[in-house]
Amino acid sequence: NILQRFRLEVQEYLEPFCLSLEKLQEVSARLKRDFSRGLGKHSHHKAPVKMLPTFVRATPDGTEKGDFLALDLGGTNFRVLHVRVVEEQQKVLKMDSQICAIPQDMMLGTGEQLFDHIAACLSDFLVSQDLKGQTLPLGFTFSFPCEQKEIDKSILIRWTKGFNCSGVEGKDVVKLLKEAIHRRGDYDIGSVAMVNDTVGTMMSCGYRDQSCEIGMIIGTGTNACYMEEMKNVKRVEGEDGRMCINTEWGGFGDDGSLKDIQTEFDRVVDKMSINTGVHTFEKMISGMYLGEIVRLVLVKLTEDKLLFKGQSSEALKTPGRFETKFISEIEEQDNGLENAQNILTKLGLKWELVDSRVVRLVCDTISSRSARLCAAALATIANRIRVNRGLDHLKTTVGVDGTVYRKHPNFSDELKATVRLLAPECDITFLVSEDGSGKGAAMVTAVAHKLDSKIGFSVLLKPAIF
Ligand code: BGC
Repeated sequence: NILQRFRLEVQEYLEPFCLSLEKLQEVSARLKRDFSRGLGKHSHHKAPVKMLPTFVRATPDGTEKGDFLALDLGGTNFRVLHVRVVEEQQKVLKMDSQICAIPQDMMLGTGEQLFDHIAACLSDFLVSQDLKGQTLPLGFTFSFPCEQKEIDKSILIRWTKGFNCSGVEGKDVVKLLKEAIHRRGDYDIGSVAMVNDTVGTMMSCGYRDQSCEIGMIIGTGTNACYMEEMKNVKRVEGEDGRMCINTEWGGFGDDGSLKDIQTEFDRVVDKMSINTGVHTFEKMISGMYLGEIVRLVLVKLTEDKLLFKGQSSEALKTPGRFETKFISEIEEQDNGLENAQNILTKLGLKWELVDSRVVRLVCDTISSRSARLCAAALATIANRIRVNRGLDHLKTTVGVDGTVYRKHPNFSDELKATVRLLAPECDITFLVSEDGSGKGAAMVTAVAHKLDSKIGFSVLLKPAIF
């Protein structure tokens, strides 16, 4: 039958994306080594996986309270939020929030323009909430790799995803935000806590489940954080307790360690991106790139006459036109094929039934590789926590967020099944975070703020929880 013949031929193109369990184990072993390099005092400068200290030393203990502002930059949207933490009910309430668009040219413009825009959005929001007279503490979820010196001093190492504003790399982001607010002069903010989205996600789940000690994002970008033993965090003084480490696993492979699994398509995606040569692992996994990988495979299959009778379209040839959300739609169990056909028509392609099936197979292969690579990385973290604690068996919870994880029909199932195989000694519960970037940031700020009044802004929390 035609489909089978096609399948065999197409399969040859897809083969390099299919990673065996043994390969994933190898990948996990390499990441394990890179975790150690990133944590080491003398090796971290050159380490591709940065393992950044976050100065968050424990999760909430339920006694935090108050009103907070939160900013969330680096995911699908830029948002401003007003969050209330209510102690008695152990609840984090989102009072209100507002999405502000960040135009594409601003993502690539100057840092000053970007921070002025952020300060203006915050001003509008404060007016609409009647909060302008107050100086509320602010949690800033800034989802990019930052070298954190303190909870309120955070230096951008590099932009990732679609951002590339000039004059921000190497600078303290809190300072840039405060300067922009002072330039306006119409309002002020209280103390600031900087939070990576993974940390916010872990913290927001930690309020519900105190064994949540990993935060993971699979959205526009990908990354994870986890609670590491202080004695292993050589860059920060102190031996006792634990600190949350932002792994920045997206940078895995930046030293060439993933060359054997990178395909020709991955290399093109990297070359065409605005940050060539960095965030190798992220480019194989996250929402910013998955659609483009699929598009490139489809282009190649069309060129080689295995799709659409060799007839391409302008849209298919245009970078970015095959959106990552199409993959989720095409892989939908019941309506997937029909969705595929509608999408192909919209992309100006003349399809037959077999074409839509092949396209579905391509989507499935690419999303599956993403889920399995994430699983390998998550298994590495879980095993590390287990070994750190000298346990034969670890029971733990991971707080998760991100459009790919949430929206794709079988991504989470595949991820969970693969982690079980790669980390059989770990029993991992997955908790989808409810607005981790907003509420989690408020949580971190609340905890930091509470301690601020006691011991200064260095966030030593109750280590007893872990
Ligand atoms: C950033 C991380 C972030 C992740 C998910 C990556 O590109 O480097 O800091 O956590 O995206 O948003």
